[in-house]
Amino acid sequence: MRPPGRVAAGVNATNDVCVAVIYYSATGTTHEMAKAAADGAEKAGAQTRLRRVPELAPQEAIEANEDWAEHLEQVSDVPEATLDDLEWADGVLFGTPTRFGNVAAQLKQFIDTTGGLWQSGKLTDKVFGGFVTTGTSTAATRARC
Ligand SMILES: Cc1cc2nc3c(=O)[nH]c(=O)nc-3n(C[C@H](O)[C@H](O)[C@H](O)COP(=O)(O)O)c2cc1C
Repeated sequence: MRPPGRVAAGVNATNDVCVAVIYYSATGTTHEMAKAAADGAEKAGAQTRLRRVPELAPQEAIEANEDWAEHLEQVSDVPEATLDDLEWADGVLFGTPTRFGNVAAQLKQFIDTTGGLWQSGKLTDKVFGGFVTTGTSTAATRARC
């Protein structure tokens, strides 16, 4: 097995490429986008990991929103993202709903745990991208992941 986080020079087979789709979703919209992104990468021949970041909201806030509580239960089988997913991946796609024009705190919190990896150079030479979902069409032009 090749070392994590590197595509060997001269390798053309796309199944040597590892793609992690790491996202937050409260009510399922971003989850659907994340699944589509992972499916697309897989169809192109990549190895993929679909990972949700841990929920941070208080239980009473979740329970006050039926869609939120239902979605959380539906994705209980989706593994939670870990730093190993970032080390493993050659390419990482972050997905988030818009929260007042910004990234969801849950995803930001996960990203904020990557300082050690960054400092030790383990994020070097990887490709990072992102996608957002919004409630309004104008928010898509404001929010950047
Ligand atoms: C607290 C909160 C803040 C939001 N802020 C925005 C916003 O600034 N602009 C926008 O277009 N949508 C906003 N939305 C709507 C969500 O971004 C949108 O519904 C998103 O697609 C939901 O994704 P999810 O189903 O994956 O949780 C907000 C929603 C919540 C709950």
